[in-house]
Amino acid sequence: MVRVSVLGLGPVGLVTALCFAKRGYSVVGVDVDKCRVDLIRAGKLPFIEPSLDRYLKDAVERGTFEATSDMSINKSADVSIITVGTPSAEDGSIDLSHVKSASIAIGQSLRDKTEDQLVLVKSTVIPGTTRNLVKPLLEEYSGKKLGNGFKLCSNPEFLREGKAIYDSEFPDRIVIGGEREEDLRALEELYKEFYREKTPPIVKTSYENAELIKYANNSFLAMKISYINMIANLCQQVQGADVVDVAKGIGLDKRIGSLFLNAGLGWGGSCFPKDLKAFSAYAKMIRTESSLLDDTKTINDHQPSKAAELAESLLTDLKGKRIALLGLAFKADTDDMRQAVSIPLVKTLLSRGAEVIAYDPAAITNAKPLLDSGVKFASTAIDCITGADCCILVTEWEEFKKIKPETFREKMRYPAIVDGRRIFDPSEFKQANVRFSAIGLNNRD
Ligand code: UGA
Repeated sequence: MVRVSVLGLGPVGLVTALCFAKRGYSVVGVDVDKCRVDLIRAGKLPFIEPSLDRYLKDAVERGTFEATSDMSINKSADVSIITVGTPSAEDGSIDLSHVKSASIAIGQSLRDKTEDQLVLVKSTVIPGTTRNLVKPLLEEYSGKKLGNGFKLCSNPEFLREGKAIYDSEFPDRIVIGGEREEDLRALEELYKEFYREKTPPIVKTSYENAELIKYANNSFLAMKISYINMIANLCQQVQGADVVDVAKGIGLDKRIGSLFLNAGLGWGGSCFPKDLKAFSAYAKMIRTESSLLDDTKTINDHQPSKAAELAESLLTDLKGKRIALLGLAFKADTDDMRQAVSIPLVKTLLSRGAEVIAYDPAAITNAKPLLDSGVKFASTAIDCITGADCCILVTEWEEFKKIKPETFREKMRYPAIVDGRRIFDPSEFKQANVRFSAIGLNNRD
């Protein structure tokens, strides 16, 4: 059986590792963070990802997965996968220091290895990184040459947090970049064995194209959301307009497609914000026009404040008003608060004199250090809205969709709702006589 080692046990690394383990591959997950490794060894996940706890338990019981911080273990692997983080540097460009140390560690572990190892770069990296950084480091520290001791492919991932297992098991496509046909073939064979009859289309290309595909993919999706948010803001001013219907109408055009056309308070998370910044910094570095990337970000930067504006127009003034926030995480089904729109929204609300109380089914622990100490936290959604003057729906968790307009009316001091993710049916609120505003919905009759 193929032995796989995965370097970097963040969401992408751990999901990748456990999906290989689930198929019976012998997998070792390596991370420099000993606390993270200890947690995983104790059978606990360092973050929330639906069903992943089951995968971890199952893999540990079957003996197909082990976590360690001992890098030398990589020596025994047939395939090693780099999944370390690529955060933003202070100027917005990409910080490749973790990719660098992972490449050095792999190189060192290859020094006395007799069999070939296939090295994959799954971390999101700017074009040229695999060729000009990873390959030279592997060669220098292993004392070997590409094709003579190791193979190397760029292999970006497209996993969404909260749906990462599904995306791993049923990807739309697999992208493989390499400079040697033999390397591309080796990885293609690995995936054909992994997916068997369910093997998705495989795009075989150069390192640089594979690296570009990842950035072009994420920035296109972010642009699609910013586009519909721009249309939403326009709809807001047009009597009779509602962005939900506009999105439905354009989404049915096959050339556009309906996914990622949900207007709201904007995109956040650990990927879009960082990748857009890095891609834009890269475009500037190579002196190409990239204003579309910058505009995509500018629209997004302004979007969270739209919720405060809507609340203000419902309440006239936010000063001294109690605002209940439902949802803090950057999206549903995760406890991830990275670049969550709730962070700037809370700042805006507080700066306008509002009192903020918040509830999230999973993200409160992660949110506390990131939000102003004046923010209060409720332990249920109902506690959160009780006595509030306005409720802003920030994250589209399933449990919020079940709250009825009558419940808001009964529990709130002054029932006024701002739907920041378009999960509620405006007509139900109208019928129940509850004041209601939503992103992209014009309220004039
Ligand atoms: C994103 C991509 O979707 C993955 O394909 C990619 O692999 C991943 O980044 C990455 O680079 O690792 P993720 O950040 O987990 O995945 O989240 P998404 O589901 O893409 O959502 C991103 C943000 O867009 C969220 O804040 C979400 O609320 C927002 N969004 C999404 C909208 O506002 N409207 C939509 O229609 C869709």
